[in-house]
Amino acid sequence: MTTKINITAKSNNQLSTLIVTNKKAKWSTFGFSKPEVAYLEKKIKAADTFITINQFERLVFVQLIEEFEKKNDYLTLEAYRTLGNKVCAAINAHKYDSIQISETVITEEQLLAIAEGIALSNYQFIKYLSDKKGKFTLKNIYLVGTNLNKIGVEQTNILIEAVCEARNLVNEPQNIIDAVSLSNEFKKLGKKANFKVEVLNKLQIESLKMGGLLAVNLGSQIPPTFTIMEYKPAKPKNKKPLVLVGKGIVYDTGGLSLKPTPNSMDSMKCDMAGSAAVACAMFAIAKAKLNYHVIALVPATDNRPGENAYTPGDVITMYDGQTVEVLNTDAEGRMVLADALTYAKKYKPELVLDFATLTGAAAAAIGQYGIVCMGTAAETHKTALKNSGNNTHERLVEFPFWDDYSKLIKSDIADMKNIGGPVGGAITAGKFLEKFIDYPWMHFDIAGPAFINSNDSYRGKMGTGVGVRLLFDFVKNQAK
Ligand code: BES
Ligand code: ZN
Ligand code: ZN
Repeated sequence: MTTKINITAKSNNQLSTLIVTNKKAKWSTFGFSKPEVAYLEKKIKAADTFITINQFERLVFVQLIEEFEKKNDYLTLEAYRTLGNKVCAAINAHKYDSIQISETVITEEQLLAIAEGIALSNYQFIKYLSDKKGKFTLKNIYLVGTNLNKIGVEQTNILIEAVCEARNLVNEPQNIIDAVSLSNEFKKLGKKANFKVEVLNKLQIESLKMGGLLAVNLGSQIPPTFTIMEYKPAKPKNKKPLVLVGKGIVYDTGGLSLKPTPNSMDSMKCDMAGSAAVACAMFAIAKAKLNYHVIALVPATDNRPGENAYTPGDVITMYDGQTVEVLNTDAEGRMVLADALTYAKKYKPELVLDFATLTGAAAAAIGQYGIVCMGTAAETHKTALKNSGNNTHERLVEFPFWDDYSKLIKSDIADMKNIGGPVGGAITAGKFLEKFIDYPWMHFDIAGPAFINSNDSYRGKMGTGVGVRLLFDFVKNQAK
């Protein structure tokens, strides 16, 4: 159950409440007692901007907007989400089940950012714990107001559900979600949000000769899947579809180029985070009925050193006929994405966006704080994507994409090799993918932010669901 945001006309003085106002507010009009007003005034004098009053049956939080005055629009939105994280923690610590936000002097967008911050902070992945003592108690967020925009609230609820679903998919271990069950999860999402889901099985993938996906799957006991999702409203704003592609490596051992344990393999169930991002973005877009034609493609398998595993030195013929010399079986993401990018050509797409936990190099470069991106999309699309990155705080850093890097993946015996040299690892991976496109395209390497080991505000810990909010914001703006 995800946390629900509700609209309510009247404020309820039994419920814990967040008041967002300015220093000059008349405290007595909020129903505070004299000692409470004195306390508030003392705190404000001491330059506090977030004050909690414990009224025994409930908590009342006062946030002064002066704290955010010097921030620009999108940093203010992020500050409000962070405020939501603080409020969520306090409510759960006191075991309350509701919070209302009233008496605000802020915009509706900012109000929704607080609610979003609360709801996303309220996510837990505790299904496998026998002892549920630490289970959060918060269930409902009430926004007090009579002329609040219902659509905005509804869209935020949908988005929260989508992000939590993406986090669930990432957090489920590979013994629960393999390539086949992952595609079944996508079917369930399609049913719930009313979009089409078709899953190609191993036989179909073989008859298409998707050499990259099949090569990575050779070491596995479980067949690969290739999922095609499509949402097409009656009169979409776009003539040619937007195609999303997500890396669906349900577990990455590295294959024969085995990753060293324990550190580098521990979180590799997250290697399908790109697929979770695109499928759950699709879910949100379809459920919110955005007027945009979107297709999402997910090549899925695990990457293992099984008996028959693909091997360093192998030459693989890809779906489009190009050949690849495999020099590291741990560079498997690009092998499966390449075939999906080739498949995308048949749609004559307006734009293709791929999401992948592709390289340690991207994570090393900027950490968990942003998404590395690169590609050939038009400047207008790049700008719109970067704006969405700022709006959602899923910030984009565009890496150089100069031709020089293509030389680094030249092979003596095949059209290319699947690794570059010691430098520019995120970029050479992108350059590899570029060999399989004939349309405007942008590649997003989410290896840094997809899975984090300690709590980071409303992003939580473990699977973050990164990419879902970015994509939803982008499509929402494109569809306008
Ligand atoms: N799945 C990994 C990348 C990754 C690393 C994701 C850390 C999340 C966190 C990917 O398949 C991989 O192993 N990449 C190699 C490529 C190299 C062999 C060229 C890497 O980055 O080391
Ligand atoms: Zn790998
Ligand atoms: Zn991988």
